[in-house]
Amino acid sequence: MDTEITLVVDGVEHSLVVDTRTTVLDALRERLGITSPKKGCDHGQCGACTLLLGDRRVNSCLMLAVAYDGANLRTADGLADADMHPLQRSFIEHDAFQCGYCTPGQVVSAVGMMQEMREGEPSAVTPDAAELSDEVRERMSGNLCRCGAYANMIPAIVEVAQ
Ligand code: FES
Repeated sequence: MDTEITLVVDGVEHSLVVDTRTTVLDALRERLGITSPKKGCDHGQCGACTLLLGDRRVNSCLMLAVAYDGANLRTADGLADADMHPLQRSFIEHDAFQCGYCTPGQVVSAVGMMQEMREGEPSAVTPDAAELSDEVRERMSGNLCRCGAYANMIPAIVEVAQ
C-alpha cells in the first residue's frame, strides 16, 4: 500500500509517496537521492545509516518511513553551516577514515553522542582524556568500520568532545 508522507531532511521538506514497507534509509537514498546515509548491513548492526532524529541518533534502516511522517532528520550533509562541522574537520585533521564508507554515519553518531553526554546520560562527561577516550569508544560501539580506522577516529572525536 502506498502512502504520502513528508520528511524534513537537513531543513528541506520533501513530500513523497512510499510503500508502507519502505525504510527511512531507502526513502532517502532511493527516492530522494540523499546518499550520505549508507546501507551497510540493513539490519541495525553497523551504524552506517545513522541519522539524527531531532537530537537522537537512530539507525534509519530500522525505521519505517510511514512511521516518521513529518519527522525532522539530519544527515552528515546537514551538519555544516557555512563551514564544516568541528567533527568533520577533526576527522580530516586526524585522517580518521580509510575507505570513508562508514564516515557519514560515524560523524552523525558522534554528534548525537556528544549531545547525550551533555545531557549526562547515562554517565557524566569526564575531563580525563583517557577516561573520555574509553567512554567515547564505548558510546560509539554501534558504529563499525570495516577498515579498522578506530585508532584515528577515537582521538578525532575525543578532541571535539573535550
Ligand atoms: Fe543500518 Fe547497518 S545499515 S545499521
